[in-house]
Amino acid sequence: MNAVFPGSFDPITNGHLDVLERASRMFGQVTVTVMHNARKSGRHLFTLQERLAILREATAHLPNVTVDSFEGLLVDYMQEQGHGIIVRGLRAVSDYEYELQIAHLNREIGGVETVFVMAATHWSYVSSSMVKEVASYGGPVDNMVPPASALALRSKFAEQDHQAAGTTPD
Ligand code: PNS
Repeated sequence: MNAVFPGSFDPITNGHLDVLERASRMFGQVTVTVMHNARKSGRHLFTLQERLAILREATAHLPNVTVDSFEGLLVDYMQEQGHGIIVRGLRAVSDYEYELQIAHLNREIGGVETVFVMAATHWSYVSSSMVKEVASYGGPVDNMVPPASALALRSKFAEQDHQAAGTTPD
């Protein structure tokens, strides 16, 4: 069966990757799809193309995982592409209420089922937003994100620092 792992992925963290690796063992094919979250509108650090490039590099070791993007409703994408199941990751109980609401909504408006995959407990504190905050102050994030995300975070904040200082990066 095919599954879709949708998200903002700004950028992908080790928690996302852990969920994706587990899902890739459960489903024949998994598509990681970058989508728009209205709650995070205008607050993305990376462009869509940057997020896709990071995802491709971070998932290159998973032969049954492909990367895609879609602008619109997740259930419409699922129907257009003939995908069966939505995969969403849960880090902690605090994620559950929001995820349950979306899962019910997607079943109501599109008849699509959601499977929750629990990330390993040691990633329970990791989120893209916290990783971005740590990286923005030059803090260490290499243990929380795949190398492609860590590299992209470093160059993005170096670029922003140079812009603020009016200099050009090396
Ligand atoms: O990584 P995120 O930001 O938690 O992912 C949320 C996302 C992008 C999967 C969700 O906002 C979504 O499905 N967006 C597409 C539009 C949609 O279908 N909205 C209805 C369900 S909220």
